[in-house]
Amino acid sequence: MSHEIHEHDVLVIGAGGAGLRAAIEASALGVSVGLVSKSLLGKAHTVMAEGGMAASLGNTDDRDDWKMHFRDTIRGGKMMGNWKMVEIFAKEAPDRVNELEEWGALFDRTEDGRIAQRNFGGHRYPRLAHVGDRTGLEMIRTLQNHGIHQGVDIYMECTIVELLMDGDRIAGAFGYWRESGKFVIFKAKAVILATGGVGKCYRFTSNSWECTGDGQALAYRAGASLVGMEFVQFHPTGMIWPPSVRGVLVTEGVRGDGGILKNNLGERFMFNYIPEMFAAETADTVEEASRWLEKDPNARRPPELLTRDVVARSIRAERLAGRGSPHGGAFLDIASQRSPEYIKRKLPSMYHQFKHLGNLDITKEPMEVGPTCHYIMGGVLVDPETAGSDVPGLYSAGEAAGGLHGANRLGGNSLTDLIVFGRRAGQYAAEYAKSLKSSIKISDAQLKQVEKVAIAPFEDSGKENPYQVFQDLQSCMELNSGIVRVKSELETCLVELEKLKERAAKVKVEGNRHFNSGWHYALDLRNLLTVSEAISLSALHREESRGGHTREDFPDSTEKFEKVITIVKEKGGKMTWKHEPKSEMPEELKELLA
Ligand code: FUM
Repeated sequence: MSHEIHEHDVLVIGAGGAGLRAAIEASALGVSVGLVSKSLLGKAHTVMAEGGMAASLGNTDDRDDWKMHFRDTIRGGKMMGNWKMVEIFAKEAPDRVNELEEWGALFDRTEDGRIAQRNFGGHRYPRLAHVGDRTGLEMIRTLQNHGIHQGVDIYMECTIVELLMDGDRIAGAFGYWRESGKFVIFKAKAVILATGGVGKCYRFTSNSWECTGDGQALAYRAGASLVGMEFVQFHPTGMIWPPSVRGVLVTEGVRGDGGILKNNLGERFMFNYIPEMFAAETADTVEEASRWLEKDPNARRPPELLTRDVVARSIRAERLAGRGSPHGGAFLDIASQRSPEYIKRKLPSMYHQFKHLGNLDITKEPMEVGPTCHYIMGGVLVDPETAGSDVPGLYSAGEAAGGLHGANRLGGNSLTDLIVFGRRAGQYAAEYAKSLKSSIKISDAQLKQVEKVAIAPFEDSGKENPYQVFQDLQSCMELNSGIVRVKSELETCLVELEKLKERAAKVKVEGNRHFNSGWHYALDLRNLLTVSEAISLSALHREESRGGHTREDFPDSTEKFEKVITIVKEKGGKMTWKHEPKSEMPEELKELLA
């Protein structure tokens, strides 16, 4: 075949924090590395984790340590996080953050010059190293600056359509240049999927256009297992007005720095939603717990910093009770709590975002906010140590991978996840590539088949509009598989997804492959349909409520479901599911949860 071909030991797909960190590590181990970005380098969803990266540096409160971070992460994930991943994560987080600083990241400082740490939901102590409200951006800037000197080959504005196999092991990837539409083949001994999330399967999301579940779907089609796909996080505070910016993130840093939530009666309603287990969730002491119960506005940790699932559901409940803001959310007020100078210094992006997109001065008026799809806790099932999937040569890190965050991710844990497991994925993928003795082979038949799939939307037989199918998919997921779920709606969702799959197969795109956004949508649809089905199927079979998965018909968490994880896998062209027992946590770690 006459396509452009590139060959590497390790191919990293996705150039956010996890992809960049993986590429740096693999390259440092002396293998040849290619890094594919769907977008321009620097424009990754990582920048949407604004408020900080969690690590128990203990700079702001020296009682903090990895054990406490472990405890908060397991508890915040409602006991569903893979304990081994959480242990590695909590132990390695401080080193990875310090390493970023060594590589040039300019963190905000404490008065005595150490990295400053702020409060965030579910973290017992102030734990988020931050750069104002632009922490993700600083992470990307630092990793790029460092990575650029590592000899990594970077392929920008390139979308991967399919992974390529040599028998049952990974052999590379097939993609196209977004601008020219020309096909490109990457031969690689190992592939790391670091493509981020799936937010675009919902109408209102903080995610940008790239987040179409590519990594999860590519892995699934290559035969890998997905885990915990029912656990989707709705961040409580997205912009809700004007409509054109609905979903854009309003960082939890606003609440971390003192912002409070109010309903249309002016009541600070979060005090009414403190869960029964609140003391165990975040209050550090019994005294602190009673201050919450007594609605003491000076409680050290405000109830606005309960975990995201709790806050998102509370805002929804206020709206349903007729106490919502004019556009169906709640008011987030920092103007009455902090001086204009403080707000502009600590939350500069929020100040400009509302000023320019919402014509609102947050130093004077409250913001209107509501839940927005932000993150998926599920993803590619990986080995905790190596980040390897169950397909030889296929690795995954960051949001594309599942397991670390369990049923609910604590804010600030995602940025740290990227650097802890990005590094591990890079290391183990490089070692695997070095250990392979035989060369990889890719059959022409396989390439022809992938090419056929890629150009199918230009065939004359279809007449469906890709944009319309895309929108109908988002509405279907929002209505039936969203923030609160129920059996009948999930079943409807799965039926509707089948119909959408049929329509997607008949999508017709006009013109040629040269920067054709209809074609890009048509190909992204395949991935979105796969992850939507995985989410809905997993959600249907978890008959309980836990973290980001809320079932109206099963409102409680149960012991039966606490013991199992949901695995989704392709078999005979169909998506199958099963519940597998969770691995048993060792006694010494269990003790940390007490
Ligand atoms: O609210 C935020 O700044 C988001 C942070 C995160 O998702 O980790």
